[in-house]
Amino acid sequence: MSNNTYTVPESYPMNGGDGINSYTKNSSFQRAGANAVKAVIDDVIAEKLDVEKIFSSSKGTFRIADLGCFAFEMPEFQVFFNDHASNDFNTLFASLPPERSYFATGVPGSFHGRLFPNFSLDFVYSSYALQCLSKVPEELLNKNSAAWNKGRVHYASAPDEVAQAFTTQFAKDITAFLDCRAKELVVGGLLVLIMPGVPNGIPHSSTLTGAIFDFLGQCLMGMAKEGLISEAQVDTFNLPVYFASPKEMTQLVERNECFSIERMEITLPCAGADDLIGIISKHFGVEIIDELFERFCKKQGDFISMLESKYNEGDQLFIVLKRI
Ligand SMILES: C[S@@+](CC[C@H](N)C(=O)[O-])C[C@H]1O[C@@H](n2cnc3c(N)ncnc32)[C@H](O)[C@@H]1O
Repeated sequence: MSNNTYTVPESYPMNGGDGINSYTKNSSFQRAGANAVKAVIDDVIAEKLDVEKIFSSSKGTFRIADLGCFAFEMPEFQVFFNDHASNDFNTLFASLPPERSYFATGVPGSFHGRLFPNFSLDFVYSSYALQCLSKVPEELLNKNSAAWNKGRVHYASAPDEVAQAFTTQFAKDITAFLDCRAKELVVGGLLVLIMPGVPNGIPHSSTLTGAIFDFLGQCLMGMAKEGLISEAQVDTFNLPVYFASPKEMTQLVERNECFSIERMEITLPCAGADDLIGIISKHFGVEIIDELFERFCKKQGDFISMLESKYNEGDQLFIVLKRI
């Protein structure tokens, strides 16, 4: 296992509350994605979780953690809802049913570091959160580096050095995540992860999400050319998200050596880009959001046939790991 020291990551909180731009009102893709594998998660729990053994060793309490929760929807026992400290926990708590049959706790902090005591969790769940990097790789912001990502906001159609910098950062983050969860989960406990991903062997530039991020970069550059924002602002902006393939995730899990892989598959549906608004407005300011999305929608019309040719047969990564 790797060394456990880890710098506190940057946080890119989702928009809180329940207004028009809030995550609550703009997360239908994530909800559909998690719902699509709900029945499979039920089956995996029934098949893989040794409930009797876990209960006998945990003095009758079953502890569940939802990492990168934002929303809710965990029905029973003792449930820990984790997100960055800057997350809108008030909205989360207010949305829990008053008559709930479980104890609810908010846990602030990054899931790339330790959140819980040793061997204190039985089931850990995380949906649409692990694609978030703890930070933008530093070389992307260095003009003298081969990974200087000028005029783009992502790695989808960027030179190899840029993509490699993202891959390396993602590997560091997942390594830290798995190291921490390996300490926190009881032996036999399950780790269920749902995240946007890419199928093995499909280049990032050929995916729908990759094409969307390219369009977004082009729209921002268009606005820079018209002086609405500066080019330097675009050059220093990179979306801190990464979409891994099952092959990459398998290698990272195997390297950790604490989990058996019970499921590792690409499923439908395809990811949306609902959660980008918070990240973009943090860098460019909220004033540009309406103009940007107007341009984005117009441009999407122009490129619609190109979008249709992109890989679109499922890009949700569904993973079930068991602590061994
Ligand atoms: C797209 S939302 C997903 C929310 C919810 N799980 C769902 O499926 O709708 C991603 C959430 O992950 C949180 N997040 C991202 N990185 C995190 C980290 N390192 N530690 C804790 N939460 C994190 C974000 O703050 C955000 O609330």
